Formats: sequence, C-alpha cells, structure tokens
Amino acid sequence: MKRTILLMGGLMLPPEIAELEKQFEVIKLYREPDPEVVLQDRRLDIQGICSLYSRPVTKSLIDSLPNLEIISQFGVGVDNIDLSAAKSRGVSVTNTPDILTDDTADTAMCLLLAVSRRVCEGDMFVRVGKWQSGPLPLGRALKNKVVGIVGLGRIGQAIARRCAAFDMTVVYHGPRAKPDLPYKYFSDLAAMARHADYLILACPGGEDTQGIVTADVLDALGRDGFLINISRGSVVDEPALVQALIEKRIAGAGLDVFQNEPHVPQELISMDNVVMLPHIGSATVETRTVMGRLVIANLMAHFAGKPLITPVAA
Ligand code: NDP
Ligand code: DGY
Repeated sequence: MKRTILLMGGLMLPPEIAELEKQFEVIKLYREPDPEVVLQDRRLDIQGICSLYSRPVTKSLIDSLPNLEIISQFGVGVDNIDLSAAKSRGVSVTNTPDILTDDTADTAMCLLLAVSRRVCEGDMFVRVGKWQSGPLPLGRALKNKVVGIVGLGRIGQAIARRCAAFDMTVVYHGPRAKPDLPYKYFSDLAAMARHADYLILACPGGEDTQGIVTADVLDALGRDGFLINISRGSVVDEPALVQALIEKRIAGAGLDVFQNEPHVPQELISMDNVVMLPHIGSATVETRTVMGRLVIANLMAHFAGKPLITPVAA
C-alpha cells in the first residue's frame, strides 16, 4: 500500500508531481476547498509532508499528524518550518541545498544590474515612445564599487564570485569570519553598510535575522547605496525600507522577496528606482526539476530506511 504524502503547494513541476504520485498517495492541500477538513479526515494517514517556503509547517500542524515521519522541503530556506517542534516529535527534515545556488546568485545579479543600469525603466522608456523625446537618465557603474554581502554561505559566495568578475570589491557580514575566503569581514552590519555601495542579503530568514536591516542600517548604506534582497522579506524592516526609498535616503532597491508575499507595499509600485521580482530565485526549469527530484529522493530514502540525502540539522 502506498504511503500518504501531504503536498502543501504547487511549485513542483508536473513531471515531478507525476513521479510523486507514482510513488505515494498525494494529498494536494493547495487544491482542497477546505484544507482543515482534509487535514482532520486524513490526520492518521499522513506520513510525509512536501513543504515550500510560502506554507508554514507549524507546531500545531506537526502535532496534529501523529504518524508524520518526514518533512521534505522544496527549497533551501526552512524558516517556514518549526524545526524544534519537528525535532521534539522525532520528525526528519530535508531541503534542497546547492542545486539552486547558481540560479539564485544569478537572480541577485539580475537585480543588481537592473537597478543600477535602469534596465526595467529603460525597457518601459522604449516601449512607451519616450526615447523620441530625449535620453534615459544615466545609471550607475558597478566597476570599483563595494558590495557588502550579508550571509556569505553557498549563495552569498556564488554572488561574491560574480561580483568579483564585475571588478567589484566584496566584503561580508555574518555570525563569524571565514578566514579561508579572500574577502574582508565586518562583524557589525551597520559598519559594513557604511563602507558599501551595495548591500546584498543572502542570509536565512527566521528569528536570528528578523528585521536586521533597520532604518539605521539603511541610513548607513546612504543616499548612493542600493539594497538587493534575495534572502527573505523578514530580514528587512520593510516599512523602514519604504520610508528610506520615499525620502531618497538610499538610491534604490532590487527585491525578490517581501514580508507579506504575494503582497508588496503599494508605495513601491510607482518607484522607478525599485526593481521587484515575484520570489523567483530558483525559478528555472532546470533547477526546479532537480529540486523536485531531490524532494522525492529524500522521501524515498527515508521510507526505505536509507540515510537522508540532504538532511537539515535539527
Ligand atoms: P547557507 O546556509 O549556505 O548560507 C547562509 C549564510 O548566512 C551563512 O554564511 C551563515 O553564516 C549566514 N548567516 C546565518 N545567520 C546570519 C545572521 N544572523 N546574519 C548574517 N548572516 C547570517 O544558505 P544558502 O546560501 O544556501 O541560502 C541562504 C538563504 O537564501 C536561504 O536560507 C533562503 O532564505 C534564501 N534563498 C532564497 C531564494 C529565492 O528564491 N529568493 C532561493 C534560495 C535561497 P555561517 O556560514 O557563519 O553559518
Ligand atoms: C528557497 O529555496 O529557500 C527559496 O526561497 C524557494 O525556492
């Protein structure tokens, strides 16, 4: 008899959903008109969850599923999962690290280039016929600028390599220095922001990073500074960011993530110096395919009693 998996959202591509359905009985919670009723009716059946960043896996959900054994996250960030609740119930958690690193770093570079060189503004300028009335205002050069990366992990380091190829100077902030890497470390975020032309956020979400980009950090970045965020919306004090942009206390922002996705602050919509993407860091066919396969491979390994491929440390 097939084991039952709760699929919380529809980001996985159709071939991987088909494969998941071949191996398991799949409850597509996002398709259910009344998810609470399904969760109640099927609570004893569910042994695994396929989760994703936009759907919280709370203590109450974990506790309501007595036979839950594994949460296999489609994504690397696990700030949507109550890890301590999973640990105390003995539920394993896996994610999809590494395979999405390059695409997410590329997304950061898309935002960095787009906001610096006015790419979206320029595209609109041509489309609506403004070019005939004069030139687009000048952009800003990347060469010789200082980029401060918050969170020099897998994605942060991939961004650092790309920035170095653009002849930018890389510095970084995080919980600890990484002496093996050739970049200057700042233990203080505001001090790094003061030193940098660009602040790129590549750290995890969650309690430790909640709102660390404050109004003071944005003021330290300054009137010529740009903020790029591909980490989580929760890392930034979003009202403070909106205010800093309105008052031109920073030069612009490139944002892939927001506090209340899919909703974005209304004030940002009309700003030329803000480029926004709908949380597409890893959103390529190639990467989403391998992410889906890894989600399934972790479930298969667990139920076969084999070691997990990419366990999340509890
Ligand atoms: P890693 O764990 O490899 O890197 C995270 C880095 O953040 C580490 O270097 C860590 O430091 C650092 N860090 C931890 N706590 C803090 C803190 N309080 N302040 C500053 N830095 C901190 O993860 P990945 O690089 O693989 O992914 C990073 C995050 O990117 C994910 O958690 C996710 O939220 C986000 N992401 C977003 C995507 C998108 O679609 N926009 C796609 C993929 C990921 P140390 O090394 O010292 O532990
Ligand atoms: C991640 O991997 O954490 C992304 O945010 C979702 O793909």
